[in-house]
Amino acid sequence: MTSAALRSGAWKLLEMITTPLLPSDYLDLVSPLRAGADLRGRIEAVHPETGDAATIVIRPGRGWRGHTAGQYVRIGVDVDGRRLWRAYSITSPTNRQDGRVTITVKAIPDGKVSNHLVHRAKPGTLVQLDQPTGDFVLPKAQPAKVLYLTAGSGITPVMGMLRDVEFDDVVMVHCAPQPQDVIFRNELHDLVADEKLRLTEVHTDTDGVLDIARLDELVPDWADRETWACGPAGLLDAAEEFWSEHGVEERLHTERFRPSIVVAGDGGEVTFSATGKTVDADGATPLLDVGEEAGVLMPSGCRMGICFGCVTPLRAGAVRDLRTGEITEAEPGVLIQTCVSAAAGTCDIER
Ligand code: FES
Repeated sequence: MTSAALRSGAWKLLEMITTPLLPSDYLDLVSPLRAGADLRGRIEAVHPETGDAATIVIRPGRGWRGHTAGQYVRIGVDVDGRRLWRAYSITSPTNRQDGRVTITVKAIPDGKVSNHLVHRAKPGTLVQLDQPTGDFVLPKAQPAKVLYLTAGSGITPVMGMLRDVEFDDVVMVHCAPQPQDVIFRNELHDLVADEKLRLTEVHTDTDGVLDIARLDELVPDWADRETWACGPAGLLDAAEEFWSEHGVEERLHTERFRPSIVVAGDGGEVTFSATGKTVDADGATPLLDVGEEAGVLMPSGCRMGICFGCVTPLRAGAVRDLRTGEITEAEPGVLIQTCVSAAAGTCDIER
């Protein structure tokens, strides 16, 4: 008998002994971060950053392949007995010596996962991880001049970049309601003191929302700068228009945490037929959120209409694409992206 056959026979025997659990379930108890296990991480620390944001320090398991500055990671967290997945930008540098990675999370109103991570996550908790992904990253060839344009938690992927690569000429314009809401404020001001960064903070409670045309005054050479922008849809829409009006749109790189919802309509009754649940939904809430809220196991990924990790058959009725307003009606073989689709009347989703 070959050693492979012996190993397989021994494993089968173990499976018989450990039924109904699998041997891997027992291994998970003693070594959850081992090579070969589903990729997990252990929360090792939670550091408050502002009143509603915290940095979560995670030790990833053996299969972690590392990230590129600016990328995000999907993290699966158990909240009230349900596994929920969200994506967060990685804020640690790629060469962190202790092998840990950090995400920095801002608690958003009604955000189940963000509030859990910021206010209730405890060191020692295991979370599920995906490999890092995303193309909001720096190029291999270093640009001569850089502008980071950020607002709120949009600073998080950029902080990953700032911590990773030093450029000769970096300007940041960052918007937050008040000084105490600026995440990483002390570190940013240290960089300014070391002349590694020129920073303009726009405090929107007193200064109002940034009028993008003010860049002419705040950063007169903005059009010459390779720019990375991350923040709410309003800021990014305005930036895209501004860069394009000036014919320099190829210098602007944007990252959105949420799709821009441009069209909402009437909702309806949504049935998740595989789970046997029916709920009322408005016409603006993505069916992914509706399903998760109802306790339905919903596959998901980026939650922004990019990865197609949420596609699900539409069995009956109609849904509206929140980005375009386009209505999709059920017919055999029709799949919808639940993260960017809302009910458009009564519908049945095969989950
Ligand atoms: S979760 Fe990525 S497209 Fe819907």
